[in-house]
Amino acid sequence: MTTGKVDFTRVKWWSMEWTMIVTLYLRAYESRSQHSILDDHFAAEAVDRIDYDFARMKRYLRPSSNQFIVVLRAKQFDVWAADFLVRHPDAVVLHLACGLDSRALRLHPPAGVDWFDLDLPGVIELRRQLYPERDHYRMIGASVTDADWLDELPADRPALVIAEGLLMYLDERDVRQLLQRLTDHFSGGELLFDGMVPWVVKLMKIFRWGIRDGRQLEQWNPRLKYLEETSPTAHFAEIPVPSMRMVYRICNAIPATRNYNRQFRFRF
Ligand SMILES: C[S@@+](CC[C@H](N)C(=O)[O-])C[C@H]1O[C@@H](n2cnc3c(N)ncnc32)[C@H](O)[C@@H]1O
Repeated sequence: MTTGKVDFTRVKWWSMEWTMIVTLYLRAYESRSQHSILDDHFAAEAVDRIDYDFARMKRYLRPSSNQFIVVLRAKQFDVWAADFLVRHPDAVVLHLACGLDSRALRLHPPAGVDWFDLDLPGVIELRRQLYPERDHYRMIGASVTDADWLDELPADRPALVIAEGLLMYLDERDVRQLLQRLTDHFSGGELLFDGMVPWVVKLMKIFRWGIRDGRQLEQWNPRLKYLEETSPTAHFAEIPVPSMRMVYRICNAIPATRNYNRQFRFRF
């Protein structure tokens, strides 16, 4: 982490930058609880350093209940990613739409791993004020829809691609092209991402792409092999607060609330 106060007051509500402050704030909030699930103290340190109206954000987000959806989702990606890195200590990690997420620090990747965090140029500019680059860790300021940034990445090592909270913001055409470019570039690896169901995309104007069935991606791109999927609510048992555990347990029992945001793991 770098030091000193960082000014985020220009970030507008409901902008792309705002969405990443939301998830950062919820991870930071959760890390302060006594029995934290994700224990993302890097997020808490980042929030402490950011100049932003977090009091207003807290009133709006109601983090005591909403923290868990973000944290359980992040935890599942951490578990899948850590498992990949144990199997492939020479991996290349491409963390798309990293926002202000500290996964590259949380997971303590093995020394042989090269980690690339990518987000839009404006986001990376903000991110650089919080997290420094170091050996085997680089940040790329680009849109995932840009053509050339992938050429900078080693293609012949096992690749782990993580897209958390990204694909729902893209058009279907861009999702298809991105997946194609990834599988064309890397010789093999795994892809972790989450997606919204189509009815949520219709409801929320900020989203553009929804996924009904994970296997549809195999038809789009035969290199992608579906491995598994889950939902943040499926891990309700990890929630340490009994009343919230009960709420998430009920959400998990109802297909509409269990499946509105699902996490997928594919091999390629
Ligand atoms: C909901 S935030 C998630 C951030 C991070 N993954 C997390 O969980 O905290 C969505 C992120 O997607 C990024 N994003 C949206 N469109 C993008 C694009 N075309 N290329 C790269 N990043 C994009 C935004 O800048 C933002 O950081």
